[in-house]
Amino acid sequence: MSDRTISASKRPEEIALDAALRPRTLTEMIGQDKLRDNLRILIEAAKHRKETLDHILLYGPPGLGKTTLAAVIANEMGANLKVTAGPVIERAGDLAAILTNLSGGDVLFIDEIHRLGRAVEEILYPAMEDFALDIVIGKGPSARSIRLKLPRFSVIGATTRLALMTSPLRARFGAVYRFDFYTKEALESIVTRAAALLKVPISTDGAKEIALRARGTPRIALRLLRRVRDYAQVRADGSIDAAVTDAALRLLDIDDLGLDDLDRQVLRSIIEKFGGGPVGLETIGASISEESDTIMDVVEPYLLQLGFLERTPRGRTVTVRAYQHLGLTPPATLTTSQASLFVNNLPAEAE
Ligand SMILES: Nc1ncnc2c1ncn2[C@@H]1O[C@H](COP(=O)(O)OP(=O)(O)OP(=O)(O)O)[C@@H](O)[C@H]1O
Ligand SMILES: [Mg+2]
Repeated sequence: MSDRTISASKRPEEIALDAALRPRTLTEMIGQDKLRDNLRILIEAAKHRKETLDHILLYGPPGLGKTTLAAVIANEMGANLKVTAGPVIERAGDLAAILTNLSGGDVLFIDEIHRLGRAVEEILYPAMEDFALDIVIGKGPSARSIRLKLPRFSVIGATTRLALMTSPLRARFGAVYRFDFYTKEALESIVTRAAALLKVPISTDGAKEIALRARGTPRIALRLLRRVRDYAQVRADGSIDAAVTDAALRLLDIDDLGLDDLDRQVLRSIIEKFGGGPVGLETIGASISEESDTIMDVVEPYLLQLGFLERTPRGRTVTVRAYQHLGLTPPATLTTSQASLFVNNLPAEAE
């Protein structure tokens, strides 16, 4: 299994470490500068008017800090945080129970909000818009609906798949923010801060090297740091520098861009089995026995960012750069056709 599964499967060691390393305030949070600036204004303005926060939607690839930020926002507002997730709320009644337990000013965090069922969403609309809960009493002709008032509260929704959210639900969020991959500098600071908290000696070069291979993602940076720390303690003198990092990550088959086996398998599969594409994600997934969800959430965003993959209306295509990174010779047709591909490449959010 690769060393970066999606949020659901966290190991105990990771949870304990998470608690210690998680930033608690906007100032402690590193990176995502524009997003943090926008949020500061939103929070200050709400506090100034003594209002609850507008509903906030956070989206972006896994491990960039959506859950972390939700807790930071609640903390900055001095509000209680209630946490739930799309797949957990199975019935409309489950959501009604959560909503009737909220107090004024509470923040309700709904993770994986794109996975809410239709019936549940319909309860959420009036709750978010009018702070009201519509309940149907009785059955058949004598059934009637009563409206309960809810306290004012704020929803923070998080999703890795904005495109799978229904538009009425999206429309209920007053503020929508996208997480970008982190810069190398931001990741380096995150690694340095974490190493200090873990009391692991690390050189500037060591932190830089981990940052370079973390795929723009804090969760991966922290995972790599833990693996390199293990290696440093077993095979070296316990401190981390660039050479130790390189040796440790080489052993884990993580290359100098941070790509691992799964990333390379995806690229190779497109090249070797589908002539470089275009090919759909489902097909790629089936060809390497991997869930297409994992490929879409975890593998694809970073390969797109690197310019190794392109989305075309007919599927994914591998670029010249990907061939070069794998040490393969790109077909001559690709080198000449790629320029025109760029022009035709529609921004395809949805599958
Ligand atoms: N800006 C940051 N500074 C320091 N650490 C961070 C930052 N953002 C995230 N982290 C750390 O990265 C890890 C992943 O963050 P988090 O769980 O919030 O991501 P997520 O976007 O909710 O991911 P998922 O989509 O998988 O739920 C956590 O351990 C968190 O402490
Ligand atoms: Mg999360």
